[in-house]
Amino acid sequence: MKKPTNLELTQEAMLKMGEDALRAVVDHIAALPKAPRSNLEVSEEFLRSLREPPPEQGTDFPSLLQFFMNTIVPVSINTPHPAYIGYIPGGGLYPSAIADFLGAATNRYTGAWFAAPAAARLEANVLEWFAQWMGYPESSRGILTSGGSLANFSAVVTARRHLLGDDLSRGTLYASDQTHHCVMKVAGLAGIPERNIRLLDVDENYRAVPHLFEEAIQADLEKGLKPFLLVGNAGTTNTGAVDPLPDLASLAKKFGLWYHIDAAYGGFFNLCEEGRKKLAGIEMSDSVVLDPHKGLFLPYGSGSLLVREGELLRRAHMMSADYLQDHETPEGEVSATEYSPELSRAFRGLRVWLPLKLFGVQAFRENLAEKLHLTEWLYHKFEEEPGFECLSAPDLSVIPFRFHPKSGDIHEFNRRLLKNIIRSQKLFLSSTLLKGQFVLRVCILSFRTHQAEVEEAFEIITSEVQKLAKE
Ligand SMILES: Cc1ncc(COP(=O)(O)O)c(C=O)c1O
Repeated sequence: MKKPTNLELTQEAMLKMGEDALRAVVDHIAALPKAPRSNLEVSEEFLRSLREPPPEQGTDFPSLLQFFMNTIVPVSINTPHPAYIGYIPGGGLYPSAIADFLGAATNRYTGAWFAAPAAARLEANVLEWFAQWMGYPESSRGILTSGGSLANFSAVVTARRHLLGDDLSRGTLYASDQTHHCVMKVAGLAGIPERNIRLLDVDENYRAVPHLFEEAIQADLEKGLKPFLLVGNAGTTNTGAVDPLPDLASLAKKFGLWYHIDAAYGGFFNLCEEGRKKLAGIEMSDSVVLDPHKGLFLPYGSGSLLVREGELLRRAHMMSADYLQDHETPEGEVSATEYSPELSRAFRGLRVWLPLKLFGVQAFRENLAEKLHLTEWLYHKFEEEPGFECLSAPDLSVIPFRFHPKSGDIHEFNRRLLKNIIRSQKLFLSSTLLKGQFVLRVCILSFRTHQAEVEEAFEIITSEVQKLAKE
C-alpha cells in the first residue's frame, strides 16, 4: 500500500505558515482604518466563481492565504473597522485570536475535566470572574457557549427542567416585545409551545412594563396555564434599553417564576461604575446571559450563561454513558460537559482568559466607560441638530434615530438615507423598526471606536442627510 501523504508539516513549514498568516493578519489590522466600511455589492458572477468541487489535490499555502485575505475577507461588512457602529460590534481582540490559535494548536480536550484539569480550572476561573462581576453567589456555575443564542437556549432548558418537568404544554414565558428573537427561537427549540409565549408592550423608552407582566401572569394562571419563566433585558438589541430589573425580580419571586436576564449585549457594562448604576438588579436574577464577543470585545464565537444555583444548570444538562465512566470530577472543579449540551469542544476559556490576563480588568472597565460617554456625546449631537430625532435616550450604547425631512415620506427618506450611507462605504449603519417606525441605529461597542470615529460618523450622517434633502 502506498504510504499516505504526511499530514504533519516540518518545523520549518509550520513556522513559515505561521509567519505568513501572522504577517497577513497584522497588515490587515494595520490597514483597517483606511479600508472600506463595507463592501456588499457582489455580482452573481463573483458568487458563482466561489463554487468549487472538493479539492482532490492540494494547493500551496501562500495562494490559499492570498485567496482568503484578498477574495473572501473584503466582501463583507467590515466589522472590525474602528468606525463600525452598525450591528452590535465587538471589534475582535487580537490576543483572543492568538488564544484560539494556541488552543487549537495544542488541541487539549476541554469537554471533560479529567482530560485537561488545569485547562478546565482556567476556564472555571473565567466563569467565576463573570459571576463575581454580576454579583452572583459561589453556588453559581456557568458555561461558555458559541454565542448568546445558545446561552439563552441552556437558560430556558434549565428553567423548564426545574419548574415544568415533563409537562411543557402549559408552560408560559413572559418577556417584553423588545426581547431578542433568539429567546423565542430557543424557547421553541426547548419545547415551549409558541402559543404560550407572551411578548408584552413596552413603555416610551422601550423598557418592560411590570404591571403588564403581572396582568398576563394572572390571566394565564386563571386559564390553568403554568407561568414558569420571566425574561428581562439588560440592553435590548433595538435600543439598548435596560428593563426595570428589580421590579421584574420582585414579580418573578411573587409568582415563583424563573427570572432570566438576557444581558448578552449589555451585561459587561456592569464592570464600570457608570454601567453598574444602569444595571442594578442584575444580581437578583436566576440566570444571566453575557456575550464576551460583544461586551468584552472578543472575536465572534463567545457567549456565556451563568446560573445562580449552579446545580440546576447541571441537572438540566448532565447525562452519563458507559464510555464516560472514567470521567470523575473532584468537589469544587467543573467538567464542562455536565453543564452544557456539548461534549467535545474548542478550548473556549482561553480566548477570554488571555486578554483579561494580558490587559487586566481595569482596561476593560475604561473601554466600556468610554463607550457610554461616546454614546452620550453622539446622542446630544443628534438632539441639537435640527431635523434629527432620537427615539429614546440611551440606557447603554445604542441610539435609534431618524431624520424628519421637510416634505415627503419620512420612512422613505430614512430608508434612502441608510442606503446612501452604506453605499458611500464611509460608514455602515443598520436599521430597525420601533413601534412600526423605520429608524436607523448606531451601536458603539468596538474597542477600536473612539471620539474621532464617532465625530466622523456624525459628519457623514449629517452630510448624507443634506445631500438627500437637496434631491
Ligand atoms: C440582547 C441580545 N441577546 C441575544 C443575542 C444573540 O446573541 P448571538 O448573536 O451571540 O447568538 C443578541 C445578538 O445581538 C443580543 O443583542
